[in-house]
Amino acid sequence: MTRIFSGIKPTGHLTLGNYLGALRRWVEVDQHQADALFSVVDRHALTVEHDPARVRRLSRQAATLLLAAGLDPELCTIFVQSHVDEHARLSCLLECTATDGEVRRMIQYREKGTQARAAGQSVRLSLLTYPVLMAADILAYGADEVPVGEDQTQHVELTRDLAVRFNQRYGHTFTVPRATHPPVAARVMDLQDPTSKMGKSHDSGAGIVCLLDEADVVRKKIMRAVTDSGREVEYDRATRPGLANLMEILAGCQGGNPDDLAGVYESYGALKKDTAEAVVELLRPVRERHAELAADPGYVDKVLGQGAERARSVARPTVDAAYRAIGLLPA
Ligand code: AMP
Ligand code: TRP
Repeated sequence: MTRIFSGIKPTGHLTLGNYLGALRRWVEVDQHQADALFSVVDRHALTVEHDPARVRRLSRQAATLLLAAGLDPELCTIFVQSHVDEHARLSCLLECTATDGEVRRMIQYREKGTQARAAGQSVRLSLLTYPVLMAADILAYGADEVPVGEDQTQHVELTRDLAVRFNQRYGHTFTVPRATHPPVAARVMDLQDPTSKMGKSHDSGAGIVCLLDEADVVRKKIMRAVTDSGREVEYDRATRPGLANLMEILAGCQGGNPDDLAGVYESYGALKKDTAEAVVELLRPVRERHAELAADPGYVDKVLGQGAERARSVARPTVDAAYRAIGLLPA
């Protein structure tokens, strides 16, 4: 059976980008078709300036939202990364497989490093080693597929390189995974700055739709989305990024194709209105279910406890095999 692994960082409130780019497919497709594991990767949230209480709160909220969006603990495994030691054990070995040159090339490291420096903060060493920990997340589970948004392609490529290199040097140990992306909305852009990704930790809240935003807030953000001064509704990501983003969001909500929306709308206003309503309807059940689940933290804890136990049992044999293969003396 195909094995799937993916993760989400508790660095901020989950966004429409997380939902359309990753979470929705985990719910609708992946958990039904594969042995799927989904993790709130909390150690990744420590790679940038953080507030301990906030990370703890956001980790619980992210887990609750995974359930609210429809991940079913009967069908898949849901857990918190730091509850399973195998991630840390394996990332040590992969740090001895990766080179500093290849991790320094990662776009996310360069962007986040620049942001931290611009804010007068130091760059944590863990920001540099982050993709190695991510590779450990994936390889520990022998994942065949990693369903992610487009921004994670480079990290999954590095994971593949590390798996191949380790296998060549020390004998076959790891499955070489591949990234999978949704057909549309694999990269949802910021509504106020459609040339940059809609990201959780972005400063401007106005361009980001959070999964828990009230319906009226969602409407306001989408109606105020930046578009160009043209009139015709046509799909062109390069020259009309704001418009294209709205069309992708609407197509993503409806399960259609953004190209097919060109010609359907006579004005930007009409497109925005339909996009806003489609997003509101998409998120309504998630918000409602989140409210119910948040009132029962005992249930969420139980799911996470069972998930961690299953995750450990899947990861341990592979990580133990990697310890032996690389030359460490068995205990
Ligand atoms: P993160 O919030 O960075 O932990 O991302 C969790 C998942 O959501 C990853 O698979 C990302 O690729 C995906 N994702 C995050 N932001 C976006 C976005 N703006 N558009 C599409 N996918 C996204
Ligand atoms: N780096 C991913 C992101 O920023 C989150 C992540 C961590 C992840 N470990 C993973 C995604 C393993 C997929 C598989 O979105």
